[in-house]
Amino acid sequence: MLWIVGAEGVLGSTLVELCKSNKISYTATGSKEGDVTSLECMSRVAQTIQPTHIVNCAAFTDVDKAEQFPESAFAINATGAGHVATVAKQVGAKLVHISTDYVFAGTHSTPYLETEECAPVNVYGMSKWEGEKQVFAALPSACVIRASWFFGKKGKNFISTLLERMHEKEVIPVVADQSSCLTYCWDLGDIVLKMLDATGVFHFANSGGASRFEIAQEILTMVREKGIAVRCEKIEPVSSSYFLTRAKRPAYSVLSTCKISQYLGKPPRPWQEAFKEYLSHV
Ligand SMILES: NC(=O)c1ccc[n+]([C@@H]2O[C@H](COP(=O)([O-])OP(=O)(O)OC[C@H]3O[C@@H](n4cnc5c(N)ncnc54)[C@H](OP(=O)(O)O)[C@@H]3O)[C@@H](O)[C@H]2O)c1
Repeated sequence: MLWIVGAEGVLGSTLVELCKSNKISYTATGSKEGDVTSLECMSRVAQTIQPTHIVNCAAFTDVDKAEQFPESAFAINATGAGHVATVAKQVGAKLVHISTDYVFAGTHSTPYLETEECAPVNVYGMSKWEGEKQVFAALPSACVIRASWFFGKKGKNFISTLLERMHEKEVIPVVADQSSCLTYCWDLGDIVLKMLDATGVFHFANSGGASRFEIAQEILTMVREKGIAVRCEKIEPVSSSYFLTRAKRPAYSVLSTCKISQYLGKPPRPWQEAFKEYLSHV
């Protein structure tokens, strides 16, 4: 039986839907009934439900807010992640923990391998990196999957905000000096379910690393091709300094997905293909 921790978030709720459609037996907990900051609470739930596998989707994910509330970010993303690994060990369950491309400094110009040095540039990234370390310290057989720039049915993200703005503005400024890969939550959810017995660090994202500006341009073209009426006529490239944000972002955090492709025998599909599928549902 699979325990989905942090099941009310974007990825967690996607996993719940995937378990339902694939008839996988699961228990889903949100922050109230399965609070990762409380070892006692997590241990009680684990002893009661006796999972064979756990996926930890719980996180403090507001990158800018994490700068203001580092203690909360660390309590959930670092100590909390360690608690999940500790209870997995207590009940003999396998664990998949979700992490992020923001563990990297972003100084590269080629995709980051799993073996490359982590040097986060913001509190969110630091707390997630510490979380990875606490997970492996408590449960060396754990699997950590790092992903980047989510988009999916639920939640506010780069893509949902962009689509909203396309209906409102003729010219949309989009940052051209931050590059990574989009990750379609359904694709990630599917992969997570295939990685339940894996060990080690893996990267997963849809293929096609690009800047936010390049992605936005392609999306405008695809939206037009689909015949969706939008107000936007132009995407304007701007630098990160155009928008005042509390947290610095890595300039380049494209993840190499060679390792997971080899493990699963299949590379991730291009983000454009996943986006077309997403567009047919919105
Ligand atoms: N979103 C992205 O672009 C992105 C990119 C790369 C990696 N990731 C990683 O992917 C994972 C899933 O992200 P997501 O976007 O699905 O996150 P999300 O939508 O923000 O959901 C996170 C969930 O964690 C729950 N949570 C917060 N504090 C908790 C606690 N103390 N105990 C238990 N649950 C708690 C939240 O519940 P409440 O709402 O009740 O607080 C929320 O439902 C995270 O590890 C994140 O770091 C995300």
